[in-house]
Amino acid sequence: MKTLATASKLALLGGTPVRNTPFPPYPNIGDEEKKAVMEVLDSGHISSFSASRQGFLGGERVQAFESAFAAYHSMAYGVAFNSATSGLHAAIAACGAGPGDEVIVPPYTFTATATAVLHHNAIPVFADIDPVTFCLDPRSFEAAITPRTKAVIPVHLLGHPAEMDQIMAIARRHKLKVIEDCAQAPGATYKGRLVGTMGDCAVFSFQESKNMMTGEGGMLISNDPELVEQSRMVRNHGETVIAGEARKYLAQTIGWNYRMTEIEAAIGLVQLRKLNGLNAHRQELARYLLDRLPTVPGLRYPAAQDQCTHVYNVFGMTYDERQIGISRQRFIQALMAEGIPVGSGYPRPLYHNPLFQERMAYGKQGCPFTCHLYQGTVSYAKGLCPVAEDLCAQSALWTFVVRPPATTADMDDIIHAFEKVIEAIPEIKEQDHATIVS
Ligand SMILES: Cc1ncc(COP(=O)(O)O)c(C=O)c1O
Repeated sequence: MKTLATASKLALLGGTPVRNTPFPPYPNIGDEEKKAVMEVLDSGHISSFSASRQGFLGGERVQAFESAFAAYHSMAYGVAFNSATSGLHAAIAACGAGPGDEVIVPPYTFTATATAVLHHNAIPVFADIDPVTFCLDPRSFEAAITPRTKAVIPVHLLGHPAEMDQIMAIARRHKLKVIEDCAQAPGATYKGRLVGTMGDCAVFSFQESKNMMTGEGGMLISNDPELVEQSRMVRNHGETVIAGEARKYLAQTIGWNYRMTEIEAAIGLVQLRKLNGLNAHRQELARYLLDRLPTVPGLRYPAAQDQCTHVYNVFGMTYDERQIGISRQRFIQALMAEGIPVGSGYPRPLYHNPLFQERMAYGKQGCPFTCHLYQGTVSYAKGLCPVAEDLCAQSALWTFVVRPPATTADMDDIIHAFEKVIEAIPEIKEQDHATIVS
């Protein structure tokens, strides 16, 4: 291990921080994205969703982005949305999940993975995650299946693929639909297959913190033409338009306005071309860190599992207070004082939110949990998913700054700060003890 630490005084205890400047801003918007946006503005057409069959399918760039994104994944169809949240909602609807049905989701993910289920009045059932990948644990998933289960949403969390072979085998055995939530992992692979190509459909996010971004935006991909047509209706007021016929304002189902604009699609086309390079940049920075961060019992750094590639949307670590000797909060404070942005990740498993604890999604009567069509007894009890609860309460440690345009010089600051803080743990403990005693 190369040692960068200088045994200088911790910034937390009044010393000089490793770093005084912020990490480079993200996202990195290039001339290509700017030019693409200007071309849309100059064209005078910012949406182009309209009454004709062609317009029902979106503007020129929306359709080009859908085709290019589907082709990148060697899938038949792409359907662009204004967010992954709306794409997930459309996926739930298109998979036929609704009132009375249950959909299994992990609790260690962004809120939308579970609330998209509620958006269609189905009930999210939480299954625990794997402590190493932070993705859905296949055994916990299988144990959560009931006669009411309609679908499962494995999330490829922080950039690492979920254990898809086992998840797919269980889902097929129980005739469940599989919606991959790929918001945090575009371009990651599992046994040589891109995430998003293994389930019945998959949803991606292009919100601005993601590995490829359009500001806001989402995409559903699938090989199933019926599922795709249903999701297009959800995107566009439940209407279908028949080729060659005038629009009839004929709503076939409940729909929303989940449409992407030409501006986002134009940025998306550029970002998609850059995606492999952007991911490679993240992987190089991660490799640099993994080769140099101090090896200490109680700190585990992210690693791609066998036959998987990791695209590091977040550099997610685990922290064991008993082995390290100071609390996670104190360790974070010490790193932050050195100028390194780290945090504890998701603050609670999703089912600890009042939304689930008090079962209040719509109105004041507990809908949809109290819906008479729902015959199940879903539990949101504390202790339901111990691995996720432990990560939230005490062991996850995240940093977002392992991403372009950061350089290895930026990574050196992270390494230096980790070494400095780890070396000074006895001193922090002493200081904390003195504070308690006085
Ligand atoms: C795992 C996951 N799913 C869904 C979403 C929702 O994405 P969007 O913000 O595009 O609606 C996010 C966004 O952070 C996410 O991380």
